[in-house]
Amino acid sequence: MTDTSKKTRDVTIAKAKGRPMLTWVGKRPLSRVTAYPAQAIERFELPSPASGRGAGGEGCDWSDWPKNLPHGGLLYHGDNKDVLAHLLANGFRGKVKLIYIDPPFDSGADYVRKVQLRGAKGTVKIDGEDYTLGEQVQYGDIWANDNYLQFMYERLLLLKSLLAEEGSIYLHCDWNRSHYLRLIMDEIFSPDKCRNEIIWKRTSARSDSNFFNHIHDTLLFYSNGDNPCFNELYTPYEQEYIDRYFSYKESDGRRYATIDATQAGLRNGPSGTSWKGFNPASKGNHWKVTPDELDRLDGLGKIYWPEKEDGWPRLKQYLDETKGRAIQTIWSDLKAVNSQAEERTDYPTQKPEALLERVISASTKPGDVVLDAFVGSGTAMTVAQRLGRRWIGCDINKGAIQTTAKRLQGVMQEQREALEAKGKQGKLVAEEAAGPAPCQFGFSTWRVNDYDLQIQHNEAVELACQHLGVTRTRTDAFFDGTQGGRLVKIVPFNHPLTPLDLEALRAELKTRPDEERDVLMVSLGIQQDARQWVEDYNRNRPVNKLHLIELRTDRKYGGIIRHEPLTADVSVSREGDKLVVDIRDVVSPTIIQRLNLEQGVFRAQIADWRAVVDCVLIDTRHDGRVFNVALSDVPERKQDLVQGRYELPAPPTGSTVAVKIIDMLGEELIIQAPC
Ligand SMILES: C[S@@+](CC[C@H](N)C(=O)[O-])C[C@H]1O[C@@H](n2cnc3c(N)ncnc32)[C@H](O)[C@@H]1O
Repeated sequence: MTDTSKKTRDVTIAKAKGRPMLTWVGKRPLSRVTAYPAQAIERFELPSPASGRGAGGEGCDWSDWPKNLPHGGLLYHGDNKDVLAHLLANGFRGKVKLIYIDPPFDSGADYVRKVQLRGAKGTVKIDGEDYTLGEQVQYGDIWANDNYLQFMYERLLLLKSLLAEEGSIYLHCDWNRSHYLRLIMDEIFSPDKCRNEIIWKRTSARSDSNFFNHIHDTLLFYSNGDNPCFNELYTPYEQEYIDRYFSYKESDGRRYATIDATQAGLRNGPSGTSWKGFNPASKGNHWKVTPDELDRLDGLGKIYWPEKEDGWPRLKQYLDETKGRAIQTIWSDLKAVNSQAEERTDYPTQKPEALLERVISASTKPGDVVLDAFVGSGTAMTVAQRLGRRWIGCDINKGAIQTTAKRLQGVMQEQREALEAKGKQGKLVAEEAAGPAPCQFGFSTWRVNDYDLQIQHNEAVELACQHLGVTRTRTDAFFDGTQGGRLVKIVPFNHPLTPLDLEALRAELKTRPDEERDVLMVSLGIQQDARQWVEDYNRNRPVNKLHLIELRTDRKYGGIIRHEPLTADVSVSREGDKLVVDIRDVVSPTIIQRLNLEQGVFRAQIADWRAVVDCVLIDTRHDGRVFNVALSDVPERKQDLVQGRYELPAPPTGSTVAVKIIDMLGEELIIQAPC
């Protein structure tokens, strides 16, 4: 199951047919995309609880699931354009019941995750003041307008093809781009499929505005077809409303409101006739129920008779029989994830579970497939898992994939423990134990193309800019910043500077005839013909002279590109029928380097290696390709440390044991040992 298909394939995409349409420079339809194969990189599977509905997911119908994929959650690391094309080519066309996406907002910001060492302050001794490793750039959100719109257009076209006829999509955005995105959604899904524009009041105030504060996000909710799945949801009434509206009490304290027993319109049948001297036709009305039913209700004491002599009888509406207030389009009761929140992962832009709970509960049934193509910290997947839905997630950022995987392992573990606890009490009913029955107790992580390079580029640009003293320019789609009066362009570090990069620069400068500044190009390496190109270009040039920094060889600036990988001292042995894995030391030169940068002059010493380790995973029968998680040590709280020593049932002799260690910056190390 490692490769869902060995070959690339062309996937056709349905044309957008709605009106009106937004246009932008370079708008292109997406009629075909190439679907690449995916490689499985990790599999996590908890043994199913001994018995009970939902144990092992048998409560779910998997018959619509592609045959060559394992039952369970699917988490893809890659650009979602590639991942969505892969899903379309591999059996998911028209299968997804709910899509929630929370894409970058085109806000001009780089999103950073605060990274800290593990352990309570004072328990892990570092020769320094604090534990912070600074901030790690998770993803860039800097776009030229047209690029952003084309980016979203392509993803939304692909997403529509994955959506089931009765499926829905929620696009989470903010005021920056919601007006453009709404038009793109109209074009792709058609305006009559726009079901709601939901306003989520995210915060009460922000201090960074000279005008009215922006305190809300927008969720654009569209359905694919005419009959989307929709479950009406309710919130409890506020006390003030209860006091005002349900102001009557029975002698036992039961609260009720009184409502008109008639409604507008004359009727010929029984409901139009007089009852106990009151004729509804006299006010152009009829009874809401028949006089017989009114008699029955009166017998039960469910008719309210006003003290006034000529007061009309009214129906009693009991507070404990109402569902509450039907949720409307302004959501102001859901708090953003704050620094104290238990669910906080420290991933930037993490959305609250309560918000996703509302979206998923409204638009799916248990067992349905939920897709989030920008998972971030995995909030949508976490809630889908808790609510007994199947799920597929994807992100381009490795930190997002690691955060989501860790979170899902925790949720599955919790669900399993809850089911078992109930089982021990002799009444294992999944719904009672842990909400709706979980569809799965496992998931696999896949890679479509190699996006590690992409991630490194984000961080590398940040590091290079810091190192070279470049002031970042957030609004320029081409140049990364300025340095000493020169424009700076950082060439992606996955290739040396080539004449193609230089031609792109020349073309860009042609669009800026008034630009007179010189340009500094920073690259990891320089192809020989690129040097010649620059020499020719600079000859007799009064403005826009080109300067180069080749980081690989530059004496002054070369230091930043050295990378010393994570290392560990691990022993793997057999003790009787047990396998013992003992981690004795883990050293992360990058973390030490970060601490030194953060702390200033002194060198950081980390006395307990466990402070630098985020989690440990063990595969007892490693096949060299997919990492099958037999044990995961993922401490829930930041102040807790991994155990470091593990005892597991020994695998058959001759197996390969693999130990995966992930440090607090997300760097991974896999150690393999024969056993
Ligand atoms: C606003 S965050 C999502 C936050 C998420 N809803 C949560 O609750 O944590 C947007 C995510 O989109 C990811 N992203 C940006 N461009 C992407 C692409 N082309 N393919 C896949 N993911 C992408 C970013 O890495 C980031 O994790």
